[in-house]
Amino acid sequence: MGIFDWAKGGKKPKAAQTDRPVPRHIAVIMDGNGRWAKKRGLPRQMGHKTGAETFRTIATYCRDIGVKYFTVYAFSTENWKRPQDEVDALMNLFRAYLTEAAETMVARGVAVRIIGDLSVLPDDLKQQIADVHALADTLGPDAATASLCINYGGRDEIKNAVRAIAREAAEGRLDPETITEDDISARLYTARMPDPDLIIRPSGEIRISNFLLWQSAYAEYYFTDVLWPDFSTADMDAAIDDFNRRNRRFGGV
Ligand code: IPE
Ligand code: IPE
Ligand code: MG
Repeated sequence: MGIFDWAKGGKKPKAAQTDRPVPRHIAVIMDGNGRWAKKRGLPRQMGHKTGAETFRTIATYCRDIGVKYFTVYAFSTENWKRPQDEVDALMNLFRAYLTEAAETMVARGVAVRIIGDLSVLPDDLKQQIADVHALADTLGPDAATASLCINYGGRDEIKNAVRAIAREAAEGRLDPETITEDDISARLYTARMPDPDLIIRPSGEIRISNFLLWQSAYAEYYFTDVLWPDFSTADMDAAIDDFNRRNRRFGGV
């Protein structure tokens, strides 16, 4: 069946919907991998592996429907508390994803960036990230961006920005009296991006868990009970449709 046959009465292909406005920046707290695995009697790692596949599917979908910035929370500054084998499995999933990103990023035209305190990551992972960022820099400013937050914490990020500002002030390069909100935004990991418009949290938890604290000041939140490994393009459509029905006032009337 040709792609236009549905218009003649055939079955409409499940193509990306492109005839509606989409948020410029969508962020997702990828939660529920462990419960997804537990429900199936599988080790938690299998939930993370399946969740990583979901990330690939949803990131591709976001690119196809015209979302310019897609940011996901993959590993928080608090997630180091987890058992070592789970942390190791997550680091290995990051390695696999970065290998793939390095091979496919230019062809896909999506700049992959890693956000967080990367200084404490294993050396090989740091090298992979540096390589991926160098490739991302070769894509033009119009390329879509997919950001993976690893060892990310909103408070940690703000603390680092405060340190940078304090350092510049102490060196006489910045006047404390003239510090603006933009000066703070410019020192966050997300400096090059607009604030998120829509933040999605699957898995039924209604909390932020230290994600994009500064940047989410006027974000719209969308919560769903679906566990991240089960999150589908239809779930993304539902979140976007919900977002499009909201009236964002930013404090106005
Ligand atoms: C999210 O899934 C992935 C990470 C936090 C790394 P979880 O592993 O938190 O899944 P649940 O919340 O235990 O179901
Ligand atoms: C938030 O999920 C962090 C990530 C998805 C990476 P958590 O599972 O760590 O959050 P809590 O512990 O339920 O708040
Ligand atoms: Mg969780």
